[in-house]
Amino acid sequence: MESEKGVRLGSSLPGRLLEPFDELVRRRRYRTRSEAVRDLIRKTLVEEEWKTSGGEVAGTLTLVYDHHFRDLPGRLMDIQHQSHELVVATQHVHIDHHNCLEVLVLKGPAAEVESLAGSLMACVGVKHGVFVPSTTGKDLA
Ligand code: NI
Repeated sequence: MESEKGVRLGSSLPGRLLEPFDELVRRRRYRTRSEAVRDLIRKTLVEEEWKTSGGEVAGTLTLVYDHHFRDLPGRLMDIQHQSHELVVATQHVHIDHHNCLEVLVLKGPAAEVESLAGSLMACVGVKHGVFVPSTTGKDLA
């Protein structure tokens, strides 16, 4: 295992790649290029974890829906209960008289978490659904 001090890497980039990268570093308010590179590496490792991991992953699902729409709240609740072992936490916010915003924290095997998120987003009446695959962080420095 590498020390906390880390390893120095030298790399060369074509100028036309460096210019937009430096612009990204500024826009996202990284203090150094190294911080941006570390984040990009972590992002790629998390994506890879989702494709290849047999272990646990985590993610969040945001849903916006009208709770008056047919039996939608009941169906969303049924689906969550059918996979209750994957649902770590939920937060429900009543945006206005009609609309609800719900955020679910999901954790479990990647394929199962993705499938649950897909089932919820696909429910007729869900106005907006965004799934953000993340990580439990166990294998990420
Ligand atoms: Ni509500």
